Amino acid sequence: MARKPTKPETTTETGEAKPEDLAAVAAAAGEPATAPAKAAPAKTERPKPAKPAPKKKAEPEEDEDDDEEDEDDEDEDDDEEEDEEEHPQFTAKEALTAFAGLFRFTWPALRKYPKWLAIVIFGLLVETAFNVVFPLSLKFLIDDVLSSEATNQLSTLVTILVALGVGGLVVSLVTIWYEYIDSLLMSSAMADIRRRLFEHLQTLSAGFYSRTKVGAITSRFGSDMGAVDEAMTHFVTWGMLPFLELLAGIVLMFFLNWQLALVAMLMFPITLIGPRFISGHAVDAAYQERRAAAGLVAVVNENISAQNVVKAFELRRTAIHWFEERNQIERTQAIRHRFLNAMVERSVTISVLMLHLVVFGIGAYLTYQEEISLGTFIAFESVFWELSYNIGHVTQFIPVAITGSGATKHINDLFNEPARSRDPDDAPGVPRITREIRFTNVDFSYTGTEKQITDLNMVVPAGARVAVVGPSGSGKSTVLSLLMRLYDPTGGTIKVDDSDIVAARRESLREQMAIVFQENVLFDISIRENIRLGRPGATDKDVEAAAKAAEIHRFIKSLPNGYDTVVGERGNMMSGGQRQRVAIARAIIRDPAILMLDEATSALDHGTEQAINKTLMKISAGRTMITVTHRLHSVTEMDTIFVLDKGRLVEKGSHKELLRKKGIYAELWKQAG
Ligand SMILES: Nc1ncnc2c1ncn2[C@@H]1O[C@H](COP(=O)(O)OP(=O)(O)OP(=O)(O)O)[C@@H](O)[C@H]1O
Ligand SMILES: [Mg+2]
Repeated sequence: MARKPTKPETTTETGEAKPEDLAAVAAAAGEPATAPAKAAPAKTERPKPAKPAPKKKAEPEEDEDDDEEDEDDEDEDDDEEEDEEEHPQFTAKEALTAFAGLFRFTWPALRKYPKWLAIVIFGLLVETAFNVVFPLSLKFLIDDVLSSEATNQLSTLVTILVALGVGGLVVSLVTIWYEYIDSLLMSSAMADIRRRLFEHLQTLSAGFYSRTKVGAITSRFGSDMGAVDEAMTHFVTWGMLPFLELLAGIVLMFFLNWQLALVAMLMFPITLIGPRFISGHAVDAAYQERRAAAGLVAVVNENISAQNVVKAFELRRTAIHWFEERNQIERTQAIRHRFLNAMVERSVTISVLMLHLVVFGIGAYLTYQEEISLGTFIAFESVFWELSYNIGHVTQFIPVAITGSGATKHINDLFNEPARSRDPDDAPGVPRITREIRFTNVDFSYTGTEKQITDLNMVVPAGARVAVVGPSGSGKSTVLSLLMRLYDPTGGTIKVDDSDIVAARRESLREQMAIVFQENVLFDISIRENIRLGRPGATDKDVEAAAKAAEIHRFIKSLPNGYDTVVGERGNMMSGGQRQRVAIARAIIRDPAILMLDEATSALDHGTEQAINKTLMKISAGRTMITVTHRLHSVTEMDTIFVLDKGRLVEKGSHKELLRKKGIYAELWKQAG
């Protein structure tokens, strides 16, 4: 169990995993506030976007290729982000980069739904148009109806009101319609991306999985997809709509009175002043908080997986103490983050208020001087509100977009992880073994530096039963991995009869193989289906026969639901030995030409092990069986025993021959008693 750091500086440590929970923690830092919009009293129907929760740099919580616990923050920084270090505010460039990033990431999925896209765009345009017409109608209402001497006032009034009423109703229906289509569109696109990502995962190499933390992968589906989802969910209503209305509002202002409009344009520089000074700090605070949150989740994570130890050693108090330390760090960071975020927003509303007073004063003066009509003044006021409201929306959406875009980068890192080398289309199959498996001068290294297998020469005749033994870490499992082509040798060749397996199609190789591991994962489906995974299409009778051979039939029958018992995630409900036997049944039903067992009976008691070994001997008739084990008592009957030490083959022969040699094997045998 990892020691808990006690100093706050170590918040950079994210620990084992950054599970989905982190999404919740992180989201808490920047989720949409439900408070009514402060910047714009003019309109309240639209939910206010997230407080500017610039979680910008928060995505690279974990990097799949760092081995050490402490992650390196520089790792994922690229040019844009360095840019941001120098100019700590949301520049237009940064915002555009974020939008472009989101667009690039989602477009391939979005474009598959052209009809929905068209409907959403149509709805957006309709809503924008109506929101522009509304204040304009105020002008006519006041100038041409309310303060006019004309005779047909009433009918004009009624016409305007009816037109607005009908328009409002139609627009409302259109907005409901397009919001629905937008939900369909975005959710479908997200589902497509998730599926693509999962499919990609299935193509990645064993090497990738051995060097990547589970949390680094699941965080892509959890917090990262969550951030993209958040940005895409609000893209239309918080990003596009306010942006279009902003443009329309500017045109309208200049149409109403260009002098006043010029003053109002000061809005743009002045709303940027506050964020310019504060948002850099807010970004940093958000980042620090997210790291603190990750640290907190790591503690919880560790605690859950270590509950046995916590209970056995009475570590409850210590555990709470560790948690509380992290919790306080998180609290401190959260205070800073929340307050700075609020200040980014406040600085905008305060500036807008100041400018508004100026516009209001000038407007009132011009109206008083009869330079502009009362209707123009009021309509202008209304557009001004609208504008400040929309600026608020756009500026607050930008951090959400930046976070989402950052997350797309993190997800893309995974997409860019090269799929394991594909078998060439014309790669030959490996015919079912008839003569031998031959390792010739095989070298192999996991890391590219130290060799884990050195100059291995080994021949396993077809139909033979052989064992690979040796001290822990000597490379026994690695030999099986090479034979299955989970990894390719760095030197030498492995042949099944005349086929070099590296040049052949993987499927044809694995079709004739079955393996049972020490730790066997059962899927969360029924026991019957778990066994049937060995050979899809096997009948229920085959399944039971395999279970009988694996000495697990009686146990399964004793379960209330028998073969239909669903095993629960990772087969938690079954003991290690029971899982092992189900896995053996899964291998048996496959009817493999080559059966590999990697400590496959290690979790069994002596009696059961002997029974299974007997079965395995029986079913190994006509097959090639390679057993990797520490239990020398179970290999005495083997045709050949290969002894590995530090990745080299040091001895081989039958049990008796090896004992006579008085070498490593004889020593191991003596130790085994
Ligand atoms: N994915 C990996 N990346 C890097 N090194 C690895 C990896 N898997 C195994 N090794 C190293 O390769 C060597 C051989 O490992 P292997 O698992 O083959 O040993 P083993 O003989 O099966 O041991 P045991 O009896 O404990 O199962 C060990 O030194 C191990 O640390
Ligand atoms: Mg092993």
